[in-house]
Amino acid sequence: MQTIFSGVQPSGTPTLGNYIGALKQFVDLQDEHDCFFCIVDEHAITVPQDPKELHHNIRSLASLYIAVGIRPTTSTLFIQSEVPAHTQLSWMMQSMSYIGELERMTQFKDKSDGKAGVSAGLFTYPSLMAADILLYQTDIVPVGDDQTQHLELTRNLAERFNNRYGETFTVPEIRIPTVGARIMSLQEPTKKMSKSDENVRGFISMIDPPKTIEKKIKSAVTDSDGIVAYDVDNKPGVSNLLTIYASCRGESIETIVKKYEGKGYGDFKAGVAQAVIDLLEPIQEKYYSLIESEELDTILDEGAEKASRMASKTLHRAQKAMGLGR
Ligand code: AQP
Repeated sequence: MQTIFSGVQPSGTPTLGNYIGALKQFVDLQDEHDCFFCIVDEHAITVPQDPKELHHNIRSLASLYIAVGIRPTTSTLFIQSEVPAHTQLSWMMQSMSYIGELERMTQFKDKSDGKAGVSAGLFTYPSLMAADILLYQTDIVPVGDDQTQHLELTRNLAERFNNRYGETFTVPEIRIPTVGARIMSLQEPTKKMSKSDENVRGFISMIDPPKTIEKKIKSAVTDSDGIVAYDVDNKPGVSNLLTIYASCRGESIETIVKKYEGKGYGDFKAGVAQAVIDLLEPIQEKYYSLIESEELDTILDEGAEKASRMASKTLHRAQKAMGLGR
């Protein structure tokens, strides 16, 4: 069985973008793969986080993973900071990374642009991500397309290590969804939808109530054409809503375009909102039943134990290859 690893940052409540780009793929892949799904809290602290909020977001993300359909009996669900091998291998990966290649990362450029006091952790974020993935001898990493550059660096680091110190790591492949690889902001449809966006109308949180979803979609930026058609360059707002609709309903974009032929944006937006609400309502019900449960702690304890066993094996192998310790 091939191994899958992926993670989500508890830097807020996941958005519909996180779901369509990542979480939905995890559910689709879990039956035929050995899966490790991680709450990457050490990645989240590369930008300032309020400790109480972070604590809540970790628990919230854990229950969301299960609410969307991850089965903890077959997949391993765990918190990054509870498996120390991640930061240990991360240091080794930082020592293998070149400053020039980290400087080229567009996520670092975007997140540090115009900010004072940018952390060293934000700069070396991709080396930690490489460690996360390589610890589990991962074959496939399902992610949204914003992570392509980080994945390329992970592959380079694995190959560099293997060439220098002998065959140690599996070189992973990226897996990006065919529809919804990059869901855009509802307010700025040329910018990625992000859970830490200061403009809350730009994203749909996975736990937004139906009324909020309706309002946010109603106020989504479109254009003055009044024609429901897919054209990313000239109609980014409408194209984004079409992608959201198609992903939520599991229908093709062409089918939806046909359905709204001759109809205005009012009808179309009402349809998009209903598709999102129908998807999220059962997820939210499960989410609220889990978030304060002891069951959630048991799942995370068992996940950390299983992940630690696998991660320690790879870490020791890599330390030995590099000549660390006795
Ligand atoms: N808009 C998106 N469309 C499709 N996929 C997306 N992903 C994120 N945004 C979109 C995918 O979700 C997974 C988890 O992402 P993350 O939490 O690790 O970090 P991120 O990519 O930086 O996500 P956000 O929402 O933008 O978080 P913040 O605001 O904290 O930076 C990844 O697989 C990602 O590709």
